[in-house]
Amino acid sequence: MSKRLYIYTVGCQMNVLDSELVTAGLVRAGYEVVDSPRKADTILLNTCSVRQHAEDKIYSALGRLKHVKEHHPHKIIGVLGCMAQKDQETIFKRAPHVDLVVGPGQLGQLPDLLGRIAAGAGPQIEVSLDRTAGSRSLVQMSFARFDPERKTSLRPGPHQAMVRVMFGCDKFCTYCVVPSVRGPEQGRPPEEIEEEVRGLAGDGCLEVTLLGQTVNSYKHASGGRTVRLSDLLYRLHDTPGLARIKFVTNFPRHMTDDLLQAVRDLPKCSPYLHIPAQSGSNPVLRRMKRGYTVEEYREMLARIRQTVPGAAVTSDFIVGFCGETEEDFRQTVELVRESRFKNSFIFKYSPRPGTKAAELLPDDVPEEVKRRRNHDLLALQNRISEEDNRLLVGRTMEVLVEGPSKAGRKQASSGPVQLTGRTVCDRIVVFDGPSAMAGRVLPVRIVQASATTLFGEMSPSQTSRSSSARSMGLLR
Ligand code: 5AD
Ligand code: SF4
Repeated sequence: MSKRLYIYTVGCQMNVLDSELVTAGLVRAGYEVVDSPRKADTILLNTCSVRQHAEDKIYSALGRLKHVKEHHPHKIIGVLGCMAQKDQETIFKRAPHVDLVVGPGQLGQLPDLLGRIAAGAGPQIEVSLDRTAGSRSLVQMSFARFDPERKTSLRPGPHQAMVRVMFGCDKFCTYCVVPSVRGPEQGRPPEEIEEEVRGLAGDGCLEVTLLGQTVNSYKHASGGRTVRLSDLLYRLHDTPGLARIKFVTNFPRHMTDDLLQAVRDLPKCSPYLHIPAQSGSNPVLRRMKRGYTVEEYREMLARIRQTVPGAAVTSDFIVGFCGETEEDFRQTVELVRESRFKNSFIFKYSPRPGTKAAELLPDDVPEEVKRRRNHDLLALQNRISEEDNRLLVGRTMEVLVEGPSKAGRKQASSGPVQLTGRTVCDRIVVFDGPSAMAGRVLPVRIVQASATTLFGEMSPSQTSRSSSARSMGLLR
């Protein structure tokens, strides 16, 4: 049997990592990765449930695949991830041509499940228990951890990698589906994380991004000792070959001093902190059950500015949450105006079945009001991002070069191309240089700035050094 795999991914970095790990597992099982569903005989959709829009995208992709399945009945179509856990059997009802439904806690079973389908066993479904279906440990066990061995050639880029440090979430913010589809919070043992990071760095990876839904609540207890995120950063810091460590996403209440001091004191730790505020209004934060007030969020920002001056802080906001008034929104605008986030992701509230908000609070902000608030908040954030980026013009910044930019990939490979990379604070920098610079950390002088991008120039000495080094075969 030929085994050609196409995997389509929507959603957050956790999903991107899951798709990478699923692909690696299937490649080990003899699959070949192809770049279109037409060429594939196994089509997997790794899904997101955080907003209705993400689910609509998957159901319409499934609609298109119906015709594919009619013409090629042997093709296997699978739905993985958060929407699989949330909708379960409903997926077969809405899309009877689906062969496979697998939740985030069962991804390790994929090679076996695909084998069973190929052997004629019919449609397969594997999902975790509902969070109220049993004791915590029973539910936790049903969200089996999935952290197989890494395969360098399948990472999106050889110099950067995501590393999961925890699974699930216990916060139960009233709008959010994540705690029910990703299960209880579970920290990975630090030894496993260390070994994975050592392996990645040994393979040429310069930067790791530690992933968790509330990464700064990471803890792992064993032998009477509890390892927190700050301890983990110390333990990872001296990994040979590693240049940078980032971590996302942070929960405001867990932004403790020990963590900020670790970010300040560890040179490899990026002073880049993504800490979603969600709203600047206390009544809204209360209805969201976020567990902090806007005053506490401001106090946290002040501590960050004091302990790690120059840190880049980013945020998420939901506009049009249940009962959000013009006054509530004005307070969010005020928070964005004064906080000078590097950037913010702004979302219109989308009621999620099964969440407390969807059950108990009316979705009473009209769509056009949500749209206007989204637009206005984004316009303000973009203005701030651009102003602050402009202040960097004239400065020389260290950039980890990721490789040719989208435009650079279309340019001739001999001679300089447009490269893209990131500063230690996660700012995107594009500049012209030899493509062999990928995977290097270089000084780049910033000459221009927009809200999302810095434009730079490599210093002439770097350019000539690199071309002579290349001609002598010194560069990788
Ligand atoms: N509607 C809109 N946005 C949401 N988010 C989470 N749940 C919802 C929802 N129901 C946003 C939050 C979170 C980000 C990942 O997605 O801002 O931080
Ligand atoms: Fe969702 Fe809140 Fe958990 Fe974030 S902290 S994943 S918003 S429940």
